[in-house]
Amino acid sequence: MTEATARLIDGKAVAAEIRAEIGRHVAAIMRDRAVPPGLAVILIGEDPASQVYVRSKEKLAGEAGFKSVVYRRPADTPEEALLTLIEGLNEDPTIHGILVQLPVPAQIDEAKIIEAISPEKDVDGFHPTNVGRLVAGQSALVPCTPLGCLTLLKRELGDLSGANAVVIGRSNIVGKPMASLLLRESCTVTTAHSRTRDLPDLCRRADILVPAIGKPRFVKGDWVKPGAAVIDVGINRVDAGRGDGSTRLVGDVDFDSAVKVAGVITPVPGGVGPMTIAMLLRNTLEAYCRINRIPFPMA
Ligand code: GUN
Repeated sequence: MTEATARLIDGKAVAAEIRAEIGRHVAAIMRDRAVPPGLAVILIGEDPASQVYVRSKEKLAGEAGFKSVVYRRPADTPEEALLTLIEGLNEDPTIHGILVQLPVPAQIDEAKIIEAISPEKDVDGFHPTNVGRLVAGQSALVPCTPLGCLTLLKRELGDLSGANAVVIGRSNIVGKPMASLLLRESCTVTTAHSRTRDLPDLCRRADILVPAIGKPRFVKGDWVKPGAAVIDVGINRVDAGRGDGSTRLVGDVDFDSAVKVAGVITPVPGGVGPMTIAMLLRNTLEAYCRINRIPFPMA
């Protein structure tokens, strides 16, 4: 007997399709406008992972026809200098999206920086105005990673209403906005975290399971409800086991056991990861359309 295996969700392919669609919309818009959508990314310090992400954001924004500007600043940049830079970008008519790559160095108050970004240019969806609008069910710029997860889920499952969804993790970047988005889709949502009791049993009741905790291979196959949709947000670098110090990326899900039980599952890498930048470009186009009072073609 062959074992059942889940359908793999190819996030890399979906993200490429969405970026191509965005590129077509930008080309169409530029037929009667002079200023393209503009994305400004601010990177403070030399965190290697952040540098990789920022380079990727810069490259893919350019490929979609955006103006793309990266401001690289040293790790000891004072908070005041960062606030001045953000104020300038808030006023810049060629910039429609502003993103400060997180984490920021200790001398900089992250909340203060996020609040300095104009909510209409807050393409990360982290400003309290956008957080509040999402929770209140109003139109908002929504954090990119959870929006990418939701986009994959809706493409795979269609209507999500009535599904039992369990989100593991309560961060402002993923867990909390993910739970809000799933609630907006009429799921019954539970947010689990490090203090949750009997997590395996809770997970076994989930039609939709979204681990976002940063613990390699934490969720085991026997925690997964047969046929469930598993959206693995984790990106963890672990030893590749070759004995030569080389590393590889794994998710928060023990893929090899979960793939035998789930109905659909995202791999790591190539699942949720590539969707984040596609959603950043989508949000920047949305901000551009709102600022210019033209219809957003991907609503
Ligand atoms: N660092 C890790 N994820 C993110 C993200 O989605 N946005 C920003 N700005 N920084 C991050």
